[in-house]
Amino acid sequence: MDRLELFPDTTTIENDALTIAGCDLSALAAEYGTPLYLYDRATLDASVTLYRRALNAQYGSPKYGYHYPAESGLTYAGKAFLCLAIAQWCRQQDLWLDCSGLGEIVIAIAAGVPREHIVVHGVNKSPADLEAATRHARIIVVDNLNELERLVSLATSHSLPDLWLRFQPGLAVETHAYTQTGHADSKFGMGRDEILEAARICRGNQLPLKGLHFHQGSQFRDPSPLGIAIEKTLDLARSLDLNEDWVLSPGGGWGVAYHEDELPQPDVAAYVRFVAEAVKTGCQKCGLPLPRLQLEPGRSLVARAGVALYRLGAVKRTAHRTWLLLDGGLADNPRPALYGARYSALPVKGPERPAEEMVWMAGPYCESGDVIIEGLPFPKVEAGELIAVPVSGAYHLSMSSNYNAARRPAVLWLDGGHAYQIQRRETPADLLRRDCELPANSVEKG
Ligand code: LLP
Repeated sequence: MDRLELFPDTTTIENDALTIAGCDLSALAAEYGTPLYLYDRATLDASVTLYRRALNAQYGSPKYGYHYPAESGLTYAGKAFLCLAIAQWCRQQDLWLDCSGLGEIVIAIAAGVPREHIVVHGVNKSPADLEAATRHARIIVVDNLNELERLVSLATSHSLPDLWLRFQPGLAVETHAYTQTGHADSKFGMGRDEILEAARICRGNQLPLKGLHFHQGSQFRDPSPLGIAIEKTLDLARSLDLNEDWVLSPGGGWGVAYHEDELPQPDVAAYVRFVAEAVKTGCQKCGLPLPRLQLEPGRSLVARAGVALYRLGAVKRTAHRTWLLLDGGLADNPRPALYGARYSALPVKGPERPAEEMVWMAGPYCESGDVIIEGLPFPKVEAGELIAVPVSGAYHLSMSSNYNAARRPAVLWLDGGHAYQIQRRETPADLLRRDCELPANSVEKG
């Protein structure tokens, strides 16, 4: 069954029910409640291995005088999903961690991620972000000239981490407009002239300029725009005074299949090969020393390891639709509403039952856009059943909300037949934790 391929590597059907990492999903739902998010450790590990093998094979050739891995060439983009346990997993895996500002830096530090592995990104970093980055990071990726001015001031009192400049190549990858970033007029990064100016400022102030970065967008499967961006970046690098051990970070963004119609999964090895070849041939052509190549995937490392489990509360048949009303949706997964993302699903019990009707799956929230699946062939299911939505590991919980005062779901780590809670479900008390009462006199006046 194609749909099963969307699920984590350890997914099997036992006693006519889906199991992941040897865990009985009905038992987990009974113990932890729903909606419930599951992360399969084996799939997470395998995704790192896939990237590392490809990097080693494609960019490790002594023929080019480059011996990978001198250090890890992989940075995990924490914005896809970050919590203490995921940051600890990054540490165990020796991954670098891309932190968007202070909040993610705090999580990285709490997990013991070493300074040498922390890269700080962000457009319009706040003073607090820059302060935290200066104290705790190995690299700050500078987005704009105003940020660089602030770093020049900070350099008078702090020793700065290495700096990479974020180049805006004027070309995005093919993806939803809301997830494109590399195009001209994008809010991210600096154009060629600004990069040259930034490099002058770095030189003039003896700031440690060590690399160039670009990121053209997210959830793409055609790497060709990267070839052009790499060429432009190498051309730029030639004009800068970078020393031998310079770094090139071509961002992340490699896509995943969310729906069986999008299978096979985009090939990570082919993507890495494309990037490595473009860098090697580009450097040879313009006589540049090969850079350290630092890839920065988020989604393609964690998306398929994650599964969302929902309880079906009601089946509603309208004139033209069968609605399956779930106990989660928009608040834990805003992607369908934001990007029209298409998802698939299977019932936990009897996942191999033949499809009998088209279903629309919606959540409980007061929003017509709270529909996570549209027009999916599905078996006849009944209220009370569990529904599993695959490819739920990236940009769900990290973009989740408390809309309608929803409580964010619990998250479990599945490893070798065991389930460990890595985030507990929010409680009603959590919802009130930040709130303060009106001053007493304002109540009287009212
Ligand atoms: N590096 C930088 C500088 C980025 O901005 C991003 C993603 C990544 C790496 C990782 O991209 P990934 O490999 O995860 O595609 N909320 C959207 C995605 C926004 C991505 C933002 N930046 C979504 O749900 O599709």
